[in-house]
Amino acid sequence: MMINKDIRSASTLPSSFYTDDATWETIMKQIFLRSWHFIEDSNVVQLPNNVYPFTLLEGALNEPLLLSCDETGQAHCLSNVCTHRGKILIEHPGQCKQIVCGYHGRKFDLNGTFKFMPEFSDANNFPSPCDNLPKLELKTWNKLLFTSIDPAFSFEEWIEPIRKRLDWIPFHEFRYSPENSQDYLVNAHWALYCDNYLEGFHIPYVHPTLNEVIDYKNYTTELFPLSNLQLGIAKGAEMMFDIPAGIADSGKKIAAYYFWLFPNLMLNVYPWGLSMNIVKPIHKRLTRVQFRTYIWKQDLFEQGASQMLERVEREDEHVVELVQKGVRSTLYNQGRYSPKREQGVHHFHSLISKYL
Ligand code: FES
Ligand SMILES: [Fe+2]
Repeated sequence: MMINKDIRSASTLPSSFYTDDATWETIMKQIFLRSWHFIEDSNVVQLPNNVYPFTLLEGALNEPLLLSCDETGQAHCLSNVCTHRGKILIEHPGQCKQIVCGYHGRKFDLNGTFKFMPEFSDANNFPSPCDNLPKLELKTWNKLLFTSIDPAFSFEEWIEPIRKRLDWIPFHEFRYSPENSQDYLVNAHWALYCDNYLEGFHIPYVHPTLNEVIDYKNYTTELFPLSNLQLGIAKGAEMMFDIPAGIADSGKKIAAYYFWLFPNLMLNVYPWGLSMNIVKPIHKRLTRVQFRTYIWKQDLFEQGASQMLERVEREDEHVVELVQKGVRSTLYNQGRYSPKREQGVHHFHSLISKYL
């Protein structure tokens, strides 16, 4: 699925990308196994001798993993599958000094090292390195933890543009707000949800309320190797960042930084805080979008932010679900890009074609 590098001549991904079973499997192997995923906030494994099991992309990858914090306070991301016959090791978060398999008693350190196995004294070449639990890279950006099964690119090059651009924002002061966080189930392919996110072109048509506060004319998209940034400019005296002098963006009336990181992470930074959207594929026509809200300035948040987020999300879901129905049509295959308004979508499709 080649995407022409020149947006002026390019056509969008063909509809088979969204509908074909074999392509879905390729997407999982070539993109999701090889990219970076948000796991949780670091406080879930802050204390020594703690474990936190989780499933990476439930429904799609279904990879059982385990966060642990060893006795020295070092955090690890391990496979949660016993290296003997494959039982899931830890079922619930909690405290423990070592990992003990509940099937035949194999024991591991909290850093994944094999320690002991009953009834194996006659086994040859045992234990060997493959009896240890596979260990994945564990990375942090502020208080957020990330991992990847088989990364095609480094975490540092992936996170660099947002880290650099927004280093003046005190993310460590942001407070996770579970009461303002929720999951949305969307009846559409995960990439259609991202396609829609990656252009502001639809704002005047789909989001009349948002359109009242965002200056559509001055909406811009900037491309980075593995991410892009849409800048929402405030129309009037609406809520905007108070950017300190000496920062590249100071003097601009920025209402929102919409960062998208390949393939499925959206970091929307507003004057009141951060709305993180993780787009999780479940199957070809179903996606879970996890919204997590982190509040920086409570007073600003209370000026209608959550109602606006909810409203815009519902409007996006509606339109994305209609596109899902459309791409299944035998009479539709692909379209063209607006060179002025769809650079983000073209960028996303180009990255998909690169990694598939
Ligand atoms: S499966 Fe874990 S000890 Fe047998
Ligand atoms: Fe939208």
